Amino acid sequence: MNIILAPMEGVVDHLMRDMLTRIGGYDLCITEFIRIVDQKLPARVFTRICPELLTAGKTAAGTPVRIQLLGQEPHWLAENAVRAVELGSPGVDLNFGCPAKAVNKSRGGAVLLKETEQLYQIVKAVRDAVPAQFPVSAKIRLGYDDTSLTLDNASAIAAAGASMLTVHARTKSDGYRPPAYWPWIAKIKQQVAIPLIANGEIWTASDAKLCQQQSNCQDIMLGRGALAMPNLAQTIRNNTAAMPWPQVLTLLMQYSEFEIAGDKGQYYANRIKQWFSYLKLQYPAAAELFWQLRVLRKSSDILAALQHALDNLTSPH
Ligand SMILES: Cc1cc2nc3c(=O)[nH]c(=O)nc-3n(C[C@H](O)[C@H](O)[C@H](O)COP(=O)(O)O)c2cc1C
Repeated sequence: MNIILAPMEGVVDHLMRDMLTRIGGYDLCITEFIRIVDQKLPARVFTRICPELLTAGKTAAGTPVRIQLLGQEPHWLAENAVRAVELGSPGVDLNFGCPAKAVNKSRGGAVLLKETEQLYQIVKAVRDAVPAQFPVSAKIRLGYDDTSLTLDNASAIAAAGASMLTVHARTKSDGYRPPAYWPWIAKIKQQVAIPLIANGEIWTASDAKLCQQQSNCQDIMLGRGALAMPNLAQTIRNNTAAMPWPQVLTLLMQYSEFEIAGDKGQYYANRIKQWFSYLKLQYPAAAELFWQLRVLRKSSDILAALQHALDNLTSPH
């Protein structure tokens, strides 16, 4: 079984990847997407999204990190894919699932699921350009509004030479509403021979098991669930218990220190609040704390609130 940490723009940055892969259980991470329009981007754009390029394309724990590109132009995607692997990315992933309006308007992301031929052209151009030893993977949803093209799209991506395909088992119109339609992945598997990764709505070890059964797919990708329970991958692999809340709080403090130092605090408040929005799904104590954090804007105030919560837990009553 391979477990992959999902790309999540605005939440899973290099610090989150570092932390979650240290906790362990992940075989691969995919970066937040890099938007490609009509030019070859400078190296600094790639290293900003993926500082792991400077450490052999791996997190400190040794987990490979693959760059994800999002765009609609086969030529420019291919040029930038080559740059990504030259800079040290162990392969390239192509995003065909992003539901964002701005991205879809310019024919990127999930809207391409309406254009099977274009999907083929993009994957083929990138595969032809990137040296064969580097995997070129793709990530799709089941469709844009419906599933009428699901099998055609998956077949086109496989025929174009993709090395693996992650399927987020919902259409763009489904958004993030449960359920994820895992049996659809089993249908795709009957039709395409490349490795498939099942994704969507895995929050617990038992979800993972059910997903594997229904998708007929061993390999899985974890998104929001990985943030809601920082050791989810370990609970799936080893049947360990969920990380206790005091340990999560300590992790939040560590993350805060790194994030504030790394980004000069600019994005910290938003990122930690977004992380909390997932943590509160698993931890009642996170829901309570989130209530206080919600209104805080300054990094120092958030940090003080976290420290206070930790002190309350550790001080003798
Ligand atoms: C905040 C957020 C940001 C995301 N960013 C990306 C992205 O940059 N690239 C991508 O392919 N998918 C992105 N996704 C989709 C996830 O990778 C994943 O497919 C989706 O969340 C379903 O998995 P889950 O139910 O385990 O969360 C994002 C999802 C969320 C919630």
